[in-house]
Amino acid sequence: MEIVIENRPLLMADSISKSYDYQLFDNLSLSLYSQQSVSVMGRSGTGKSTLLHILSTLLKPDSGSVKILDNDIYTLKKEQIDTIRRSSIGIIFQSHYLFKGMTALENVESATLLSKTSIDRDIFEILEIESVIDKRVGDLSGGQQQRVSIARVLSKKPKIIFADEPTGNLDKDTANIVMDALNIYIKDNDAALFLVTHDEEIAKKTQKLYFLDNKKLNIR
Ligand SMILES: Nc1ncnc2c1ncn2[C@@H]1O[C@H](COP(=O)(O)OP(=O)(O)O)[C@@H](O)[C@H]1O
Ligand SMILES: [Mg+2]
Repeated sequence: MEIVIENRPLLMADSISKSYDYQLFDNLSLSLYSQQSVSVMGRSGTGKSTLLHILSTLLKPDSGSVKILDNDIYTLKKEQIDTIRRSSIGIIFQSHYLFKGMTALENVESATLLSKTSIDRDIFEILEIESVIDKRVGDLSGGQQQRVSIARVLSKKPKIIFADEPTGNLDKDTANIVMDALNIYIKDNDAALFLVTHDEEIAKKTQKLYFLDNKKLNIR
């Protein structure tokens, strides 16, 4: 008998709509599979960050559904959403949230303590922060701090990484290091990446490039 392994998407958004003063998107659908990376570009104010918030459990859409690992997120109780947010997804923003008085390693450890995962030290090398891992975060450069915060997110071993302009404050070389690290991570961990950026060079480092325009995701 043939065994068919169904390849279920890690993320499935179906017909989502959202308006504030004006309608941002209308009946927008998107699937994201294991080892897949997609990026969304678009003019300022088109709703890229709002879309990322909706897909990443942070904001309920006006209509439509978002499934993460087959959980219909916005029908769940708050505690259930919290569990999925803690264990299955990682969110990276342009500015980072770290404890400045603690070392870089202690910051990462504080995250793995909660997620009960172990730190994969390779990630420090890939992100080129292994030499500063025992320094106080407050003594690191902005680019180093951003990479520590990314190591912190990845150490929780999320299945889906959501990144909103993660390289916005980084120089080109450092931005490339970060993109390589994210791509390696999703391959090694059967995870997926949803990236928002205004930088086309960065977007091209993902497998699929969308443009959010006219309330829809258009493939580039
Ligand atoms: N919480 C909110 N309340 C009211 N309007 C909002 C809110 N969040 C975003 N908006 C509006 O929605 C539009 C899209 O915002 P955003 O998703 O941040 O766009 P982008 O990330 O593409 O620049 C903007 O006009 C913004 O002012
Ligand atoms: Mg934005």
